[in-house]
Amino acid sequence: MSDQLPFENTFLLLKPDAVQRGLIGRLISRIEEKGLKIVAMKMLQITPEQAARQYECHFGKPFYPSLVEFICSGPSVAMIIEGRGAISLCRRLMGSTSPENSQPGTIRGDYSLDVKHNLIHGSDSPESFAHEAKVYFSEEEIVKYRLDLERWIYYS
Ligand code: RTP
Ligand code: MG
Repeated sequence: MSDQLPFENTFLLLKPDAVQRGLIGRLISRIEEKGLKIVAMKMLQITPEQAARQYECHFGKPFYPSLVEFICSGPSVAMIIEGRGAISLCRRLMGSTSPENSQPGTIRGDYSLDVKHNLIHGSDSPESFAHEAKVYFSEEEIVKYRLDLERWIYYS
């Protein structure tokens, strides 16, 4: 149908607090249970150079040094997700950045109490996705496959 959102990719990062708190499985389950497809995934220790590339849009902001230090403070899990309207959908699943605004039922609303320790990053636009995916993944690491369940998830 013409009013359906296009299939697109988004980049998600389970931040070091999610790994340390043993939430990797729960957070990935939320993505899978919604019907989204994981097309790339890896655990990695983010380097200061990678953090600077990912967060170059925030360079110069007061929270930038603390953000880069935090994102490099332990292993993270990086993923590329595919689905209809995946960018805005994942942002809604994540919830608002700040703990005062993140709604219960969202990842941050259910598990986070702090603006820095907010568990998950998600691209906020197709341009951000293109930039962020290149920081962590090569083209060869993105797996093209069909989910057999898709015909039960999408109605056309
Ligand atoms: P993210 O980029 O991690 O997905 O989060 P976001 O879009 O919801 O938030 P953004 O404005 O892009 O900020 C990036 C990360 O910086 C930290 N932050 N701290 N006032 C503060 O201290 C402050 N503001 C932002 C958060 O960890 C946020 O996720
Ligand atoms: Mg952001």
